[in-house]
Amino acid sequence: MKRPSIAALACGLFLSAHPSAILSAHPATAPASAATMPRFVRQDNGRFSLMVDGKPYFILAAQLHNSSAWPKRLDDAWQAVEALHANTVEAPIYWEQFEPRPGKFDTTNIDALIAKARATDKRLVLLWFGTWKNGQMQYAPEWIKTDPATYRRQRNAHGKPMDDLSTFAPANLRADSTAFAALMAHLRKVDGTRHTVILVQVENEPGTFGTVRDHDPAADAAFDGQVPDAVLRRVKHAPGTWREVFGPNAEEMFNAWATARYINAVAEAGKRVYPLPMYVNCWLRYKDKKYPGMDYPSGGATYNVFDVWRSVSPAIDFVGTDLYTTDEAEFRKVVGQYDRPDNPAWISETGFDPKTAKLLYYILAHGGIGFSIFGIDNPPSKTQTETIAAHARNYKLLGSIDTRIAEALAQKRLQAAVETPGQPRQTLDFGDWKVTLEFGPPAWGTTPAIIPNSPDMDGRAFVIRTDAQHFLVSGTDVRVSFQRTAKDRKHGQLLRVEEGGYHDGAWQADRWLNGDEVDYGINFHKESRLIRVKVGAY
Ligand code: DGJ
Repeated sequence: MKRPSIAALACGLFLSAHPSAILSAHPATAPASAATMPRFVRQDNGRFSLMVDGKPYFILAAQLHNSSAWPKRLDDAWQAVEALHANTVEAPIYWEQFEPRPGKFDTTNIDALIAKARATDKRLVLLWFGTWKNGQMQYAPEWIKTDPATYRRQRNAHGKPMDDLSTFAPANLRADSTAFAALMAHLRKVDGTRHTVILVQVENEPGTFGTVRDHDPAADAAFDGQVPDAVLRRVKHAPGTWREVFGPNAEEMFNAWATARYINAVAEAGKRVYPLPMYVNCWLRYKDKKYPGMDYPSGGATYNVFDVWRSVSPAIDFVGTDLYTTDEAEFRKVVGQYDRPDNPAWISETGFDPKTAKLLYYILAHGGIGFSIFGIDNPPSKTQTETIAAHARNYKLLGSIDTRIAEALAQKRLQAAVETPGQPRQTLDFGDWKVTLEFGPPAWGTTPAIIPNSPDMDGRAFVIRTDAQHFLVSGTDVRVSFQRTAKDRKHGQLLRVEEGGYHDGAWQADRWLNGDEVDYGINFHKESRLIRVKVGAY
């Protein structure tokens, strides 16, 4: 069957979903103030921001379970989203559902998601489950799965087909790009001025299982050929074959290049139609995993192939980390690997566990763009209640000032810290003032010289400098105190400490704290409260 051209896609001429799907599409009306297209930008100071409605946006996301983005499941799923106080929902779009027959697109699911998000004032990040889902081709439509002659599979070294589409089969790339462009065309039509959808993940945890590289005949020929110039420039290497340039890592590097090149082409096809920011997520090489194609999919943007991956993926704005651990050292290590001059810290998925709540503060500390918790819509249980409660404390507090958080991150005015064993005392340096954070002192009274860490090691804090004299502060299980460090012989003092929040954009104090409440520092326990501190020097 002849497939529609990208131009036709862009004009939205071919959408032939069930009539109800078409009818349920939302009118493209939007307030004029929301007219600016979402963008991903690098600030002059090196920080990255996702810009939404012209302002930096901090993503506090809930990711739905894989099979939950169906209209009949959304009401249930959204209960967890609301309980979590997420500002953003991450939801899959399934290629098999979106294009059940070649060139016939069904917008039922995407329309239901947009309607639900709008009705509840949430933004959406769409996850395109296309050629890849967790290193396999699970979400390719049945008409692709049943026609391996046209839609060739990757092969292992023995010629056995894998559950992955070959990136060397032009029909595969054409099919995925066409479907993805159709999705973006529909978004442009129904959301092009309103921007409920702010970001798209292209594919899901791409890469190959069962082989380090594709052994399709076209892949073999490319592997024996020269490494492309774009890769050589990025890795600063003289020309040569993959083996000559990368030695024992040649096959993994080759699959990374092939995967990145393919995904970049899919993203480009989508962006030509509707240029939303786009990222890929990554099944990480971490927790001592080292065997590509076995421990993790070979070809994803793992840290060891990052430069090769990024040498051919300019249409992808950034790479996300699917960081499933409560081991803080591991978490810190990976956040550090991906917080790079060419990539922001971004947790595209983390585990649904109360213990991952505190880890969000590492993303604040790294000036990152957001955090997303996977599998939010579990059935009711004790774990569900505890996990939602733990993360909701973060999301509710940060969500109440999310634009302020994002702006402060973009301008490097926010600093954050997380309690770690053996480091019960940390300082944040704001130039003329320093802020001391102490995890584990008594609830009130003098701080002993040696403090023990807090009982459950759940401490964290952030401090935003809002102007020369004001700071916004919050934290958990931490004592916060301010010391003036400017060398001008003036004496620094707290002029006022207010507990309160922002209402309609303006700060409102519920009470002023003084005396016992500030004498030994400002003590934060498990409650979420926001404190505004005014300092002076005389
Ligand atoms: C990572 C994937 O990206 C998600 O879609 C989901 O399968 C989770 N793993 C499950 O832990």
